[in-house]
Amino acid sequence: MATRSPYSGLQITLHWLIAFLIAAAWFLGDGMGRILDKRIEAGTTGIEGNTLHVWIGGAVFLLVLIRIAVRLRTGAPAPAAGSTGWQETAALWGHRALYLMMILVPVLGATAWYGHVKPAAEAHEIAVNVLVILIVGHTLMALYHQYVARDGTLRRMIPFLR
Ligand code: HEM
Ligand code: HEM
Repeated sequence: MATRSPYSGLQITLHWLIAFLIAAAWFLGDGMGRILDKRIEAGTTGIEGNTLHVWIGGAVFLLVLIRIAVRLRTGAPAPAAGSTGWQETAALWGHRALYLMMILVPVLGATAWYGHVKPAAEAHEIAVNVLVILIVGHTLMALYHQYVARDGTLRRMIPFLR
């Protein structure tokens, strides 16, 4: 994979925009189960009746596709100086898992919503929990690197941070 330094403005913008939209979708998920049941009963399969949760989740999906394309083209900065092999492997697979779940969560949601597949709704809820656990771990690691290991990792995503 190509390495570059630092993350581009586009990569940083997408990182924070997507993080914000995931948080918004998460808060707006409340009550979606009942809305889905009514929708299935009514037989609606199109975009009519789409909730803000569905629109925002769909935006996350499209933005993540763009983000992965940008990532494959421009790469990521080289690992912080002093990081060990296992740390780099953990970060690589942690980031890949985040990308995978950011794709899987909306795909399962859409399968339930547009395809009326109830098991996909349950899988969507489980996948959301996995994504949230990954995000919490990711955030803790970012804070650890910045404030305990003090290797400036957070500055890669917040360039004006001192
Ligand atoms: C919904 C929440 C979030 C998601 C889904 C997410 C996802 C990701 C992903 C996939 C990467 C890898 C980028 C790449 O190399 O292509 C990344 C990098 C990064 N994220 Fe997040 N992130 C989130 C929230 C946060 C938060 C809250 C912080 C800080 C407290 C943070 C700090 C960072 C930093 C510092 C990097 C660069 C790591 C490095 O260069 O190795 N992220 N994030
Ligand atoms: C990153 C994007 C998304 C996140 C973070 C997210 C998050 C959530 C959360 C937290 C819930 C509530 C789960 C619960 O009640 O325990 C939920 C439910 C639901 N979401 Fe999403 N969602 C996303 C994308 C989508 C998309 C794109 C769709 C449809 C196109 C969708 C459709 C649904 C449906 C139908 C439910 C109800 C599931 C059920 O309880 O039967 N979601 N989502």
